Amino acid sequence: MLDQNIGDNELTAYDRDHFFHPSTHMGMHARGESPNRIIAGGKGATIVDSTGKESLDAFAGLYCVNVGYGRTEIADAIAEQAHKLAYYHSYAGNGSEASIRLSKMIIDRAPANMSRVYFGLSGSDANETNIKLIWYYNNVLGRPEKKKIISRWRGYHGSGIMTGSLTGLELFHNAFDLPRAPILHTEAPYYYRRADLSMSEEQFSQHCADKLEEMILAEGPDTVAAFIGEPVLGTGGIVPPPAGYWQKIQAVLKKYDVLLVADEVVTGFGRLGSMFGSDHYGIEADLITIAKGLTSAYLPLSGTIVSDKVWQVLVQGSDSLGVIGHGWTYSAHPLCAAAGIANLELIDKLDLVKNAGETGTYLRAALNDALAGNPIVGEIRGEGLLAAVEFVADRDDRVFFDPALKVGPQIAAALFERGVIGRGMPQGDILGFAPPFCLTQEEADRVAAATKSAVEAVAAKL
Ligand SMILES: Cc1ncc(COP(=O)(O)O)c(C=O)c1O
Repeated sequence: MLDQNIGDNELTAYDRDHFFHPSTHMGMHARGESPNRIIAGGKGATIVDSTGKESLDAFAGLYCVNVGYGRTEIADAIAEQAHKLAYYHSYAGNGSEASIRLSKMIIDRAPANMSRVYFGLSGSDANETNIKLIWYYNNVLGRPEKKKIISRWRGYHGSGIMTGSLTGLELFHNAFDLPRAPILHTEAPYYYRRADLSMSEEQFSQHCADKLEEMILAEGPDTVAAFIGEPVLGTGGIVPPPAGYWQKIQAVLKKYDVLLVADEVVTGFGRLGSMFGSDHYGIEADLITIAKGLTSAYLPLSGTIVSDKVWQVLVQGSDSLGVIGHGWTYSAHPLCAAAGIANLELIDKLDLVKNAGETGTYLRAALNDALAGNPIVGEIRGEGLLAAVEFVADRDDRVFFDPALKVGPQIAAALFERGVIGRGMPQGDILGFAPPFCLTQEEADRVAAATKSAVEAVAAKL
């Protein structure tokens, strides 16, 4: 518990001197050249900082506080579990009632062909698990050469060594000696940024599938193990797939016996207005990554959902190789599992998946009404409660701004001054929204009005 009398100035000094923040300009933060912010509380879609300033959090933290802030049902479930059993490991067939019940709840909600859940703590570690399971799978099948994994430029799959390699964003590679073999990147399914302005969405999807096939053939199908993608590109720009994309990609993967990993860390448990993005787009994945929405970030918990097809081979592996040599101390942590159960129950009870779909449609319409006439607004896009506004120097010829102008970050900062949090996405001038599923229409209107005002203020200075 923090000393209640500690002054903000003193906390700020500790922060500047001792706290190594992720995804932060280290020098500017340490020298006091960029603002620090101490978040003190939250309720619904609103957070309050230590100065008392309230903000409408239209990004749900890092698109994770899906049920909204201040849910006592989840806090109580965590406390109750902590009193009963704070921890026991899940190695060698051990488990807690909470972790077993949560596994069942996940499989009940997952696409039809899913069988088992392996628990971790973050989206990154779940994708590390995926890579290991894919390699193990091909070793069990006697295909030791089939190990390469194809990801996409602009995909985001984590910040570890292998998962940072899967990620297809420069910021996460620069000066870290990433990406590492055997990770490859193919075309981003980003229709708005496509090179050829005359292509239809279907034609662009075919182009993406053709590029994938070319890569598989160039590398040799016997060396390509898996393809990983988010149903909707997230951190790479919040980009829904072009028409027909997943159908065309899956046809190529099937042809060359390449596994499909659907990274549903953002889309899992309702963000698109469907329980899973895989069901939303007809994706038949072999492995599904889950994290954020599983507990709405009340505690860290992730998972790899394993399809029956992959599970059968893993079982065959342990029958010949013995115990699988893969485990985390905190796998299926009982407190996190209790949070997951309470979170999924709340999503059902409040019908939040439906609300995500309906309010998402409303929010995008409100953004369109507010911004469509603005000459620097190139595209407004999204699906469910994921939305993005992409800014351009010239709308007709689709000319993008010089990144040095920092148009996206300036607009995100102007929006924050107006009491709303959106996210300046890391690559491109893109303002992202991913609010909690409990967002009301009145709050969606506030997001749209504040965005209009912020965009106009920044455009006037350009
Ligand atoms: C699609 C996707 N996968 C994986 C991750 C990594 O999750 P974590 O930050 O919990 O490691 C993220 C994080 O934003 C993500 O958006």
